[in-house]
Amino acid sequence: MGHDLVIVANRLPVDRVTTPSGETTWRRSPGGLVAAIEPVMRTHGGGVWIGWPGGTDQDMEPFEDDGLSLVPMAMTEQEIEEYYEGFSNGTLWPLYHDVVAKPEFHREWWDAYQSVNKRFAEKAAELAAKNATVWVHDYQLQLVPQYLRDLRPDLKIGFYLHIPFPPGELFQQLPWRRQILEGLLGADLVGFQLPGAAQNFVRLVRQRVGHKTHRDLVYLPDGRSVRAAAFPISIDAAGFEELAQSDAVTDRAKAIREALGNPTKVFLGIDRLDYTKGIYARLRAYSELIRDGHFDVEDAVFVQVAVPSREQVEQYRILRDEIDRLVGRINGDLGRIGRPAISYLHTSYPREEMAALYRAADIMVVTPYRDGMNLVAKEYVACRVEEDGALVLSEFAGAADELRQAWLVNPYDINGMKAALLEAYEAEPKEVTRRMRAMRKTIAQNDVKAWASSFMTELEDVSGVEHQKTVRPANRS
Ligand code: G6P
Repeated sequence: MGHDLVIVANRLPVDRVTTPSGETTWRRSPGGLVAAIEPVMRTHGGGVWIGWPGGTDQDMEPFEDDGLSLVPMAMTEQEIEEYYEGFSNGTLWPLYHDVVAKPEFHREWWDAYQSVNKRFAEKAAELAAKNATVWVHDYQLQLVPQYLRDLRPDLKIGFYLHIPFPPGELFQQLPWRRQILEGLLGADLVGFQLPGAAQNFVRLVRQRVGHKTHRDLVYLPDGRSVRAAAFPISIDAAGFEELAQSDAVTDRAKAIREALGNPTKVFLGIDRLDYTKGIYARLRAYSELIRDGHFDVEDAVFVQVAVPSREQVEQYRILRDEIDRLVGRINGDLGRIGRPAISYLHTSYPREEMAALYRAADIMVVTPYRDGMNLVAKEYVACRVEEDGALVLSEFAGAADELRQAWLVNPYDINGMKAALLEAYEAEPKEVTRRMRAMRKTIAQNDVKAWASSFMTELEDVSGVEHQKTVRPANRS
C-alpha cells in the first residue's frame, strides 16, 4: 500500500547536524521551500516527504518527525559536491537568478544531477499508491517529472519551481537546456512564482523543443498536455500572527530593543547569506546615511541576521568574507562604545526568535537582486499585529508583485535605496499604518493554504480525464 500524496524535494524539513562536541541533532532546514511545504503536509495526513537530510549518512531508515512521515535519501560526498553544490548551486542557482554570479558548466556535474534525479524518481515511484499525486519541488529536481512518468504513467505529477525561471536569453546558455525542459514536461502542471516565469517556460518549450503551445498549455505529440502557470507562494499568515502575539514573543521583542539600547528606530535584515540577497549594497546604503549625518548610531541600529548557507561553495565563502569586512569597517568607522552601526549575526534562529525580531523592528529591509518570492518580507507583514512597521522591498523580489505598498527599491541604485531607507525612517506613523494595513490584508487573504489548494485543484483539473479530451488547436501560437 503506497501513499496518496508524495512530496519530493531536495531537502527534508529537518537537517541532521553534528555539533562541535560530536553529537548529532536535528534542526529545521533553512530556506523558503521548507517553510512553505511543511504546513501543506500537515493538512494532508497520510502523505510522505522524500528528501535529503543533510550529511553523508548512507543507512538512514524512514522516520516520523513531529507527525510527518519522512523518507531520507542518502547522498555520497561526491554527489553533494557535484549534484548539490555543483550543478544545483554552482550552475542552476546563479543562472536562474539573472546571472548575478557567473554560472559554471561542468559535464561531471550534469552526470551527477541526472543520476540523483533518477534515484529520487525511483523512490517516488516505489512509494506512491496507484493514481496518487506526486508533487516535485524546485530546481534541484527538474528531471524527476519525466523519469517518474516513464516509471509510473498512472500518477498525477505536479512540479513547482520556488526560484525564478529565467528569460530565454539566459537559459539558452545551459548546454543541457533541452533536457531540462523535457524533464519538466513530464509533469501535468508546472507551477512558477510569477506569470512572467511561466511565459518564459512556454516560449522556450516552443522554441527549443518544438511542441505546439497555446497560452499556458503545451501539447505533446503523445496527446498529453502540460499546463504552466503562476502560483505565488505564501506563508502560514495566521500561524505567524498568533506566534507574534504570544506573551513570550512580545516580551522577547521588548528585550531585544532593550539589548540594542532602546534606539528610536531598529532596521532589520534577515537573509540566507547568499549573493542574490543584496546584503552588501543595503548595508553600504545604510552606512552612508549615518556618514552623511541623516541620523546617528544613538538613534538607529541595523540588525542583520545572515543565515549560514552553502558554505562549501566558493562564491558563498567569498561573499562571507566581503560582508565580514564591510561590517567591520562600518562599525570601526561609525560605531561608538556599546553602539555599533550594524549588529551582525551569522546564525540561524527558530521561528519564535524570528517573530520577536520582526516585532522589534521598525523597518524591515529586503533588497535582493533577484528572488523567486522572499517569504521573509511576508513573515514581517504577518507579524506586525499592531499595523505599524515599514517594509523596504526590492522590486526584483517576487513579493513586490503583491506587496505594492512597500517602499519599493532598485537594489542596484544605491542613492535610490538611501532615499527609500530615509523615507521609511522619517515616515509619519499614519502613512506607515496605511501601507501596512493594506499589505496585511493581502497576506491574510493569500496564505500558504490558499497557495497549496489552488495548485492541487489545478493539478486535479489538468490531469483529469476531461482534459485529455480537449480539442487541440491546429496552429501553434
Ligand atoms: C531556497 C531554495 C530551496 C532551498 C533553500 C535553502 O529557498 O529555493 O530549494 O532549500 O533555498 O538552501 P539549501 O541549499 O540550504 O537547501
